[in-house]
Amino acid sequence: MTAQFPVNRPRRLRRTPALRRLTAETRVHPSDLILPLFVKEGVDAPVPVSSMPGVYQHTRDSLRKAVAEAAEAGVGAVILFGIPAVKDERGSAADDPAGIMQKALRDVTAEVGDALVVMADLCLDEYTSHGHCGMLTSAGEVDNDATLERYASIAVAQAAAGVHLVGPSGMMDGQVGAIRKALDRAGYTDVGILAYSAKYASAFYGPFREAAECAPQFGDRSAYQQDPANTDEALREVELDLAEGADMVMVKPGIAYLDVLARVAAHVSVPVAAYQVSGEYAMVEAAAEKGWIDRDRIVMETLTAFKRAGASSILTYWATEAARRLG
Ligand code: PBG
Repeated sequence: MTAQFPVNRPRRLRRTPALRRLTAETRVHPSDLILPLFVKEGVDAPVPVSSMPGVYQHTRDSLRKAVAEAAEAGVGAVILFGIPAVKDERGSAADDPAGIMQKALRDVTAEVGDALVVMADLCLDEYTSHGHCGMLTSAGEVDNDATLERYASIAVAQAAAGVHLVGPSGMMDGQVGAIRKALDRAGYTDVGILAYSAKYASAFYGPFREAAECAPQFGDRSAYQQDPANTDEALREVELDLAEGADMVMVKPGIAYLDVLARVAAHVSVPVAAYQVSGEYAMVEAAAEKGWIDRDRIVMETLTAFKRAGASSILTYWATEAARRLG
């Protein structure tokens, strides 16, 4: 009896780096990456975010520099988050033409023009004294329709400041439609909407709330963000956003929601973004600091996983670094 050896050997195509490159099914390109950046009003030096090593609350100057570096590295887009010096009940700074977001958008578009796409997070939590994503009723609940009016006005202020795509992240019903209508009425028909369509009520946002100074002062966001138990609901949210005029949709967080990402990507024909959020970043950085994991390989492995699951772009705090390594 001679031993039976296999004829089909998948290992043949894995033998050398050249063979593996030739047969790779998924590639991450610098232009797939979207860099989230924080800009804080009234600081004269960048403020490090302690739970996100390497991430800063930027000054207007250091923001310009970070955006120029991202463009130089070939990053596809930046998305800005503004942190005003003064917060109030209605988040007045959010749509103030002289507010920090609008100033930063003017700075950044002047700096890079069309070299990369300039996006703005469109929400109220960074601007409200109570830290919720919308206007409150007297009972302390988030008032959906009163919030839509605020979002519409913020969209127009961001558009006037030169934004290319707005990113509504508050999970209010009808937000995409209200924003589309307001933009069109104001003549900003070319400004697009990246809808945070399937955004879950997640503990992975912990470090972001330090970075953006937006932790809710009472309660949580479970009455407007999605329940981590659901995926059909994500498809319903995506369908509504598309019907209301979304140009791109997003699934957030990332790694713990790859199943949702894969389902959404299979379901729609618009570009789908995945958000690798602050807690995902912090966990990798913290474990790497302890010497427990190979940080650089994990960064690339996670980015590849998003592409494999169907993302066309990825929001990641590692965007500039990863783009340099890929470029
Ligand atoms: C809300 C917003 C949040 C994030 C992006 N937009 C926080 C929240 O919903 O509480 C989280 C991003 C991250 O964790 O990296 N404006």
